[in-house]
Amino acid sequence: MPLSIDVVSIFPDYLAPARLSLVGKAIADGLVELRVHDLRNAADDRHRSVDDTPYGGGPGMVMMAEPWGRTLDPLVGGHPPAVIIVPTPSGRVFSQRTAEELAALPRLIIACGRYEGIDARVWQHYRSAGVDVQELSIGDFVLAGGEVAALVMIEAIVRLLPGVLGNEESAADDSFSAGRPSPLEGPVFTKPRQWRGLGVPEVLLSGDHGRIAAWRGEQSQLRTQEQRPDLQ
Ligand code: 6GU
Repeated sequence: MPLSIDVVSIFPDYLAPARLSLVGKAIADGLVELRVHDLRNAADDRHRSVDDTPYGGGPGMVMMAEPWGRTLDPLVGGHPPAVIIVPTPSGRVFSQRTAEELAALPRLIIACGRYEGIDARVWQHYRSAGVDVQELSIGDFVLAGGEVAALVMIEAIVRLLPGVLGNEESAADDSFSAGRPSPLEGPVFTKPRQWRGLGVPEVLLSGDHGRIAAWRGEQSQLRTQEQRPDLQ
């Protein structure tokens, strides 16, 4: 069964890049079904409003519960049960581990809000109806809305699905993949052997797979020490 992904956004065009490249190919190959829904279709006034001022005051607007409820009800109802992902800077941090967990599920709904957020009762409601709602952040910075974060998560998840990467480019060696001794990948080289006076580390030309694997392990460890000492 293909992975089913429904994205809800007030900017459905923001998701257009998901039809390109690796994710686009996975869709064309029938490994992923992607549907994008315009939240404004569920608005009930002439101006198609989906937000209002926050209770308690303060800057910005909050997305109203009713358009979200109307849009999500028919999506949440289906089988097998869907997990709702809410991209938000105040969520748990999305990691390679999260991508692996989500890639194992059959149905994802991604609810893109604006930064000030969605009326909190929407998630209260779906959680008490038994839906798994996961608020996820892609890092400690603030985006204008959840759409770009949704693209990031979709790409990280879809490339892990069986059949998406060829055997050659398997995800097992990726930075951050479980089972790597050090989390970051080291430097890589390709032809020509000399470029602007620069050569390639001799070991990579040796044909000695044991020495090459050992060298890559060392480089990975050095890279992690230098760039991400927090991961050591
Ligand atoms: Cl998931 N959404 C938004 N709007 N901003 C973010 C984010 C998500 N992750 C980091 N910043």
